Amino acid sequence: MYRIETTQLTADAAGIARAAELLRVGELVAFPTETVYGLGGDARNGRAVAAIYAAKGRPSFNPLIAHVADAAMARRHVIWTEQADRLAAAFWPGPLTLVLPLRDGHGISELVTAGLDTLAVRVPAHPVARALLTDFDGPVAAPSANPSGRISPTTAAHVLAGLAGRIAAVLDGGPCGVGLESTIVGLSGEPTLLRPGGLAAEEVEVVLGHPLLRQAEGGAISAPGQLLSHYAPRGAVRLEASEARGNEVLLGFGPMECDENLSPAGDLAEAAATLFAALHRLDATGRPIAVAPVPDHGLGVAINDRLRRAAAPRDS
Ligand code: TXA
Ligand code: MG
Repeated sequence: MYRIETTQLTADAAGIARAAELLRVGELVAFPTETVYGLGGDARNGRAVAAIYAAKGRPSFNPLIAHVADAAMARRHVIWTEQADRLAAAFWPGPLTLVLPLRDGHGISELVTAGLDTLAVRVPAHPVARALLTDFDGPVAAPSANPSGRISPTTAAHVLAGLAGRIAAVLDGGPCGVGLESTIVGLSGEPTLLRPGGLAAEEVEVVLGHPLLRQAEGGAISAPGQLLSHYAPRGAVRLEASEARGNEVLLGFGPMECDENLSPAGDLAEAAATLFAALHRLDATGRPIAVAPVPDHGLGVAINDRLRRAAAPRDS
């Protein structure tokens, strides 16, 4: 594809206004959210959405999340429900994505939904994302701003390392606070956890008043984005390691000797925020990566999900 000049925009009023202008003319802009950086394009503009897939080199059967400034904007595009209302009131803006049926006259490009009759919507909490979405005043389709299959970006530098020359601009809002993609809950049938993420499923269950259905591992069309080999560093990744072997670098958790530590204090929120940046740094060593065990509750469920994907066998 053509190489274009990627502008690095400061996240002040002028930079945000420029980013909204670029989105309006169908260009792609990477922007910070509290979870990871998103690669944004106008969700109503099929050419802009096609350009997102092209820039990422992403398989086009993988639907995208539409980002909006508030619940009122979400309701322009989806059929709203009482459960959506409760979850939005409790967790928006924040790291929760809701999948709901599309409504008539939704205006969303079919390339966003990959032909499904549902749409994933999210109101991000990052002030720069909110300002951009308010200025743009429309739905912004945004997958994580990394080439398909690579580690998700939590800084503007990560975005540029993967996508410079392929997108119009990146808005630099500093490192992401949550560090893991949003939790995705399907509400078009029984409430279902479609992807563990930056909001612990237990918190969603408290608000709903009952457990979420869990999707069978590796199964089901409803999680089309859940390709097993995802978030992959270049070198091999070995899980549940108690120490490094051979020339491995060790990614630790809790008090221990290691090359990178997700959280020396054993704090899962800190570990989530550190995970992708630590993987980027270890990946840059070119050595295989051993990973110490991480507890499998709360945010640990999403951390372990991403680590299993990083360790999964690759196609290429
Ligand atoms: O935190 C996040 O969610 C980040 C930031 C940028 O907001 N975005 C993100 O997008 O992770 P992406 O494209 O990497 O992941 C979107 C996920 C995929 O797993 C996709 O399959 C799922 O959302 N998805 C999108 N639309 C869906 C739908 N209609 N039904 C079921 N799953 C859907
Ligand atoms: Mg992604």
